[in-house]
Amino acid sequence: MKLLVTGGAGYVGSVTSRLLLDAGHEVVVLDSLRTGFREAVAPDATFVQADIADAGQVLTPDAGFDAVLHFAGLIAAGESMAKPELYWHENVVKSLALLDAIRAAKVPRVIFSSTAAVYGNPVELPITESAIKAPTSTYGSTKLTFDLALTSEAFAHNLAAVSLRYFNVAGAYIAEGHEIGERHDPETHLIPITLQVAAGKREKLQLFGDDYPTVDGTCVRDYIHVEDLARAHLLALDATVAGEHRIYNLGNGNGFSNRQVVEAAREVTGAEIPVEIAARRDGDPATLVASSDRAREDLGWTPRKNTLHDMIGDAWTFYRKHVA
Ligand SMILES: NC(=O)c1ccc[n+]([C@@H]2O[C@H](COP(=O)([O-])OP(=O)(O)OC[C@H]3O[C@@H](n4cnc5c(N)ncnc54)[C@H](O)[C@@H]3O)[C@@H](O)[C@H]2O)c1
Repeated sequence: MKLLVTGGAGYVGSVTSRLLLDAGHEVVVLDSLRTGFREAVAPDATFVQADIADAGQVLTPDAGFDAVLHFAGLIAAGESMAKPELYWHENVVKSLALLDAIRAAKVPRVIFSSTAAVYGNPVELPITESAIKAPTSTYGSTKLTFDLALTSEAFAHNLAAVSLRYFNVAGAYIAEGHEIGERHDPETHLIPITLQVAAGKREKLQLFGDDYPTVDGTCVRDYIHVEDLARAHLLALDATVAGEHRIYNLGNGNGFSNRQVVEAAREVTGAEIPVEIAARRDGDPATLVASSDRAREDLGWTPRKNTLHDMIGDAWTFYRKHVA
């Protein structure tokens, strides 16, 4: 297929581009480089530095794209609470402009990077796709809004749409000749921050709260290896159906506590990783764990790298060579 990958200079988009190219697809990456890196773009992809709001310049009716994989966007929940107008504009207004371009060019399929943040505080665990959607951040609200836009677009205009709701993405793609990983600035994700402490770039790791009703009092989250996540996009491409918007949670179904993450990082890196317990943060649920049964059944997807050692080991390999 001929594919447009928005955000292909970012973490998840660059790993997925690699797998798409290796599967024989033709990939055009469209990325503004606002938070991404030119060197993360797969060398055998065509690169267009542009904003998704201007995607119509690439998505022309005669360009012949078979699908758009839409990763581009802003991703920091905390920042989205301080600058909501920025998130509504970047994640919703610009994504709707992209959708206009997709419609005008008659691209038949879209795969969208949605998020666990659309659910907010869970009423039941594990979280299924039909759980109540009550985002607790503007970031989550913007992603849910575009999910809803895809639903109506699919019904009205026969688009084949899939939203993949990622839980906490971790790890790096480490293969012969390829090392592709996570570089967010500022970093807000637990595993890379833990590795910054292991590498001596931060003095200590702050954990927010140790009195939650969990195995050791710290918050529990569902981590998914970026390679497993990227693979799900290839399966989703094959599973799209015209006129339908399919939605899949992607997590590994196992929750790990913050302390378990730190313990595994100590084992992988051999570093001490000092920890300081800080006050709980507003809006942090005790436990977020996905049910990915629908993805397993419909897509035949199974996470293969589902231990903390798999994820932190690959993240550390990438971090030491490319970030530290
Ligand atoms: N990383 C996670 O844990 C996680 C979890 C759930 C959902 N997601 C979703 O996955 C997607 C990718 O996340 P990531 O971690 O790879 O983020 P990232 O910041 O590494 O990548 C995003 C990419 O999009 C580009 N971009 C941003 N705005 C753009 C615009 N207007 N036009 C063109 N390019 C633009 C950036 O330059 C960057 O390369 C996001 O949509 C995010 O909401 C990520």
